[in-house]
Amino acid sequence: MQKIIKTLSVLLVLTLIVSAFAGCAKRSRADQNEEKDIAKETKVLVVYFSWSGHLNSMAHWIADETGGDIIRVLAKDEYPESYNETADRAKNEKDEGIRPEIKDTLTADELAKYDTIFLGFPVWWYDLPMPMWTFLESFDFSGKTVIPFFSHEGSSDGAGSLSTISKLAAGATVKADDALSLRGGKVDSSENDVREWVKNLGYSK
Ligand SMILES: Cc1cc2nc3c(=O)[nH]c(=O)nc-3n(C[C@H](O)[C@H](O)[C@H](O)COP(=O)(O)O)c2cc1C
Repeated sequence: MQKIIKTLSVLLVLTLIVSAFAGCAKRSRADQNEEKDIAKETKVLVVYFSWSGHLNSMAHWIADETGGDIIRVLAKDEYPESYNETADRAKNEKDEGIRPEIKDTLTADELAKYDTIFLGFPVWWYDLPMPMWTFLESFDFSGKTVIPFFSHEGSSDGAGSLSTISKLAAGATVKADDALSLRGGKVDSSENDVREWVKNLGYSK
């Protein structure tokens, strides 16, 4: 009898461990569809990069709450489906200072229409993903207000990303102290928090 109880207990513990890991399993890569909606009469632009979809959700809530336009930054050479391959490539790009080519986002004339840029990204290797470096270096942000928002799996202060934005968007007012930080696993249940953040900044439409 004792043996049966012991076996059942071991099985129960194993089941609990497996379900816990399944619960934290990483999302698979989100779609890599291009996105550009800049036809509205608005001074607000939401720009985001996302690999597994968290920033995609956050960016859409912000665009909806502000009534702003939205564009997505995508590498011309797509990141792989595999997390490990993406992590390796991203690490190499970061270590080597590579600026991956990005798909067309905006023209300088199109960017001129906006006063405020909400800039969204996942923390990658303790910094901005390198395609965002490419994006920021492609334009002149002087006189604009840049408000960062990001998700992470531990780098809740954004690690080096916020100072990189200030460096690359020289001449802009970067609202690093107002940046929105969410752990990836919390994003799906945080729509209200994201909208509240926008409201508190005074950008609700
Ligand atoms: C290549 C890569 C590097 C990452 N580096 C970090 C990191 O340095 N710090 C951290 O907290 N999270 C890191 N993460 C986790 C992501 O920031 C986190 O999963 C985020 O929510 C993903 O957003 P997304 O779904 O929009 O791609 C990394 C993820 C990937 C794929």
